[in-house]
Amino acid sequence: MSEAILYTDSPTMDVRLKIWRFDSTTGDRELKEYEVEAPEWATLLDVLDIIKDRVDGSLAYRKSCRMMICGSCGMRMDGGAVLACKTRMADIVASGRVPTISAMGNLPIVKDLVVDMTPFWSKFRAIGPWLRPGYDRPDDGKEYRISQERMNVIHKESLCINCGCCVSECNAMESDPEFLGPQALAKGMRFVGDPRDAGTVERLEDYNDSHGIWDCTRCYYCNERCPKGVDPRDAIAKLGAESIKHGIDRDMGAKHAKWFVKSAMTTGWLREAELVPKTQGIVSAIKQTGFALELARHGKVPPPFPPHVAERVKEARLLYDLVKEQGRDGALGIVQGEHALARIEFLEEHGARLNAPEIQPGVEPPHAEG
Ligand code: SF4
Ligand code: SF4
Ligand code: FES
Repeated sequence: MSEAILYTDSPTMDVRLKIWRFDSTTGDRELKEYEVEAPEWATLLDVLDIIKDRVDGSLAYRKSCRMMICGSCGMRMDGGAVLACKTRMADIVASGRVPTISAMGNLPIVKDLVVDMTPFWSKFRAIGPWLRPGYDRPDDGKEYRISQERMNVIHKESLCINCGCCVSECNAMESDPEFLGPQALAKGMRFVGDPRDAGTVERLEDYNDSHGIWDCTRCYYCNERCPKGVDPRDAIAKLGAESIKHGIDRDMGAKHAKWFVKSAMTTGWLREAELVPKTQGIVSAIKQTGFALELARHGKVPPPFPPHVAERVKEARLLYDLVKEQGRDGALGIVQGEHALARIEFLEEHGARLNAPEIQPGVEPPHAEG
């Protein structure tokens, strides 16, 4: 009997949901509706336990920790990946919604809500998820200590529990199953950003190959679905910034990003007319001349010469110099941007002082002044 049923004193609610049942041995697929009584505090996982205990023992799903740690219970609710043990049902029931539960996407289904994680683990292994030690042990025999600033770079990536929710919703993986994907790349950043690791350049070279970081479509859906706040897309952006910093810019995606920066630094604007030759090369640009002329005819492309320079372009150049001077042109710059956004969000939410101290990941923000 499940733990949920033992809490008989708790107020209860009637939960209705539909589950896509599937049997890979027969190919049978059926959407079945269930209605059970569950405690008001029940999660989706508790409800599945009750269904399995009381209604249909053949229902298949994975679980272990029940507390958002093991990463076993990833599945889809109404088409978006969730951790079943993190998803409370009370609000859903109150809204009258009858959610549809199905297996995660981008992975083969074995039975009902259980997917075959083999492709997931293959990509995980492919990025080399172990430390390649390359640091000198302190002479005094004490531990090798890392500054908080350096740890901030990989703080979020270290939170990954390998649940696969990001992979389930990755658009790039849907069109290219060989794409390394958000979870593997976030884990890759966890080692690229680790100051104790000696494999940075080798790793970046690998992640820059085909099916690597530049195949991401930047849809940000992985950030939205990750139940642990890892923000895999941000990790991929950090890998891109680190690659360019280390001179690994052979991919068109890297050239594209570099041109954005150069254009903003020199003119304060994006010089779109030069984007194609700078990104794809002259030959490709010539091939697209007809298209470019058509755009120009409709006033979509400003004349490239003389380049339009923003009135206060000096500010853009100063900012560029500052980033270079502070060595924040790699992942550190992205982390700084994340902190700045968190700070703005905090200020907006709490009306705190403009000179509030910087918010560190994992540290409770200071109490706001009214
Ligand atoms: S942002 Fe990139 S990695 Fe994340 S879901 Fe979209 S395509 Fe996949
Ligand atoms: S990045 Fe987030 S969604 Fe993806 S596997 Fe890790 S914890 Fe799960
Ligand atoms: S059961 Fe472990 S994360 Fe849900």
